Amino acid sequence: MGNFLAGRVVAVTGAGRGIGRAVALAAAADGAKVVVNDHGVAVDGASPTSEVAESVVKEIQAAGGEAVAVADDISTMAGGQRVVDTAVETYGRIDGAVCVAGILRERMLFNMTEEEWDPVVATHLKGTFTVFRAASAVMRGQRSGTLIGFTSGNHQGSVSQANYSAAKGGIISLVRSAALGLHKYGVTANAVAPVARTRMSANVPVRLAEIGEPEDVAALVVYLLSDRAAAQGVTGQVYTVAGPKIAVWAQPRELRAAYASGGWTPQTIAEFLPGSVGVDPMPMLSEVAAMEEAARGSARPNA
Ligand SMILES: NC(=O)c1ccc[n+]([C@@H]2O[C@H](COP(=O)([O-])OP(=O)(O)OC[C@H]3O[C@@H](n4cnc5c(N)ncnc54)[C@H](O)[C@@H]3O)[C@@H](O)[C@H]2O)c1
Repeated sequence: MGNFLAGRVVAVTGAGRGIGRAVALAAAADGAKVVVNDHGVAVDGASPTSEVAESVVKEIQAAGGEAVAVADDISTMAGGQRVVDTAVETYGRIDGAVCVAGILRERMLFNMTEEEWDPVVATHLKGTFTVFRAASAVMRGQRSGTLIGFTSGNHQGSVSQANYSAAKGGIISLVRSAALGLHKYGVTANAVAPVARTRMSANVPVRLAEIGEPEDVAALVVYLLSDRAAAQGVTGQVYTVAGPKIAVWAQPRELRAAYASGGWTPQTIAEFLPGSVGVDPMPMLSEVAAMEEAARGSARPNA
């Protein structure tokens, strides 16, 4: 038991299983009072149950910590609000909001239905917004707090999870917007792109070369929630954690620019662009053939 979060109040969505559960347990072990949110659904978002959140609350209490369960669906505004209201009503404040809840509905883009797109984007992207929205209003008044979104290396693109990839890219932009908009109120915002053994990662159609345990991810999240991270100026960042590895992702920026006077036409661009601005090769494009092979159900290539 450490004391990185002594006296803090932290809400964690998707805290009933996998990485969210490890974050909730680690935050409590480091002194936080924890709101454990989990809608208790299957990997595809179906069949909710409240038992999943309640069982993690019992684990925390059995270890001598303080926690309260919220089984709401955070893809609704009322669900996100209830997570934050429960923190404030039960413990008087909210110092950290960690949005881990997620589902998968995998399909190639050309076959993807609205029923596969909407709930995935709603759970990840809107489900981060609903909690950030409610938590940031309280944190602005407190003049302190930390928001943490969960993204994925898949924000770079995905062969068969365009819905998930688009939501994860959106979460990074949401986190950066929160970091910018809340900086003057003393509130930080960061994103974590984990690679850890859970029921969700067991479904990935590639063999992950670098992977760790949910506890590795939880340690990073506890650090990000702490005073130490705020004092070290950590905000607007995206960190990958995969077992022994921690990596920071680049901020998006223009790579190369070129100028021409007199206005552009398609013809002048076709002549000018290749030798001046050019392209930035997509790292994942070279891996696509192996991924497609894997998606057909044969081997599990490295990623
Ligand atoms: N495991 C990995 O390697 C990996 C890689 C990249 C990103 N991620 C991200 O990390 C997060 C956690 O993933 P995991 O592997 O622990 O998954 P998991 O399936 O083990 O846990 C996700 C939890 O979220 C809950 N949940 C789903 N929809 C919800 C909703 N609407 N409201 C409240 N709770 C809801 C589920 O009930 C479940 O307990 C996800 O956002 C995932 O996309 C995981």
